[in-house]
Amino acid sequence: MQKEHISVLLNEVIDSFSNLKDGGTAIDCTVGGGGHAEGLLLRYPSVLLVGLDRDEMALEIARERLKRFGDRVKLFKCNFIDLDGLLEEIAISKVEAIFADLGLSSFQIEDEERGFSFKTDGPLDMRMGINEKSASDVVNSYGVDDLERILREYSEERFARRIAKNIEFKRPIYTTDQLVKVIFSSLPDHAKKDWKKIVMRVFQGIRIEVNDELKNLNELLSISDLRLKSGGRIGVISFHSLEDRIVKRFFLGKNFVKMTKKPVIPSEEEIKLNPRSRSAKLRSAERV
Ligand SMILES: C[S@@+](CC[C@H](N)C(=O)[O-])C[C@H]1O[C@@H](n2cnc3c(N)ncnc32)[C@H](O)[C@@H]1O
Repeated sequence: MQKEHISVLLNEVIDSFSNLKDGGTAIDCTVGGGGHAEGLLLRYPSVLLVGLDRDEMALEIARERLKRFGDRVKLFKCNFIDLDGLLEEIAISKVEAIFADLGLSSFQIEDEERGFSFKTDGPLDMRMGINEKSASDVVNSYGVDDLERILREYSEERFARRIAKNIEFKRPIYTTDQLVKVIFSSLPDHAKKDWKKIVMRVFQGIRIEVNDELKNLNELLSISDLRLKSGGRIGVISFHSLEDRIVKRFFLGKNFVKMTKKPVIPSEEEIKLNPRSRSAKLRSAERV
C-alpha cells in the first residue's frame, strides 16, 4: 500500500504567503499529492492555483484531492523549468506567489518500480519524469571520475573515490539491491556501521544527477525573478545543503528581500510525526 505523503512545514508555508489574502495567482511548481496546494486554497479563498508536476502519478493524486476546488485549480504535467512557456500559453503574465517543495513524495519513494529507495529492491531508475538518463545509465556508463564527482559533490560522501571505483569494477548493476551491496562492500570496516546513511546519501546524489535537480532549481529561480509581481512572494523547501545554498544565494540578489533571517525548519514535534521532514529548510522572499 502507498503511504500518504505528509506535507512538510504546511502551516509555515501557508502563513508565508499571507499576500494572497486578497486573491491572486499562486504557482505550486511541485504540486505532488496536493497537500500544500490544498492548504493555500483553503486559507486564501479567492486564489487561483496553478499546479505543476513532472510526474503523472503525482498529478493523478493531486487531481483527485483538489477537484472540489473546481476552476480555482489548473494542473499541468510540466517540468518547472518550462514554467515560463506554460504561463505564456495560459495567458498569465505575472503572479503573486511561486512555491516549490523540492524532492519526492512518500508514494514515489515507496514505489519499488521507481528505484528511489534503497530499502526495497527494484530497477535502477530514479527518473521523476521523462528524462534522457536513468540511474542505470549513470551507474553503468559514467567514468570513475564523473561518478566520484557526483558522490563527492551531490552525496557529500567522503568515500566517493572508493565507491566510484568499486561501482566501475562490479558493473553492470541493474537493481537497487545490487547497488546497495556494491556500496557496502566499498566501505572500510570502521565505516560499515554507518552504511545506511552512506547508501542513502549515494542514492540521493545519483537521483540529483539523473533529474538535473540543481540545474533545474537555478532555472526555476531565474524564471521566478521574471514572473513574480512586485510584492509577490517565493517560497522554497529544500532537503539538501546544495539546494539550500542555491536558494540562499539567490535571495541575496537585489530583486529580493528575505522574509526571515534564517530558514524555517520543522519543530521537534513535526520531525517526530514525520521523520522525512528532518532535513527540510523553508526560505521565503519577497520580490522588490
Ligand atoms: C515533495 S513532493 C511535493 C509534495 C506536495 N507539496 C504536497 O504537499 O503534497 C515534490 C514533487 O515535485 C515533483 N518535482 C520534482 N522536480 C520537479 C520538476 N523539476 N518539475 C516539476 N515537478 C517536479 C515531484 O515529482 C514530486 O511530486
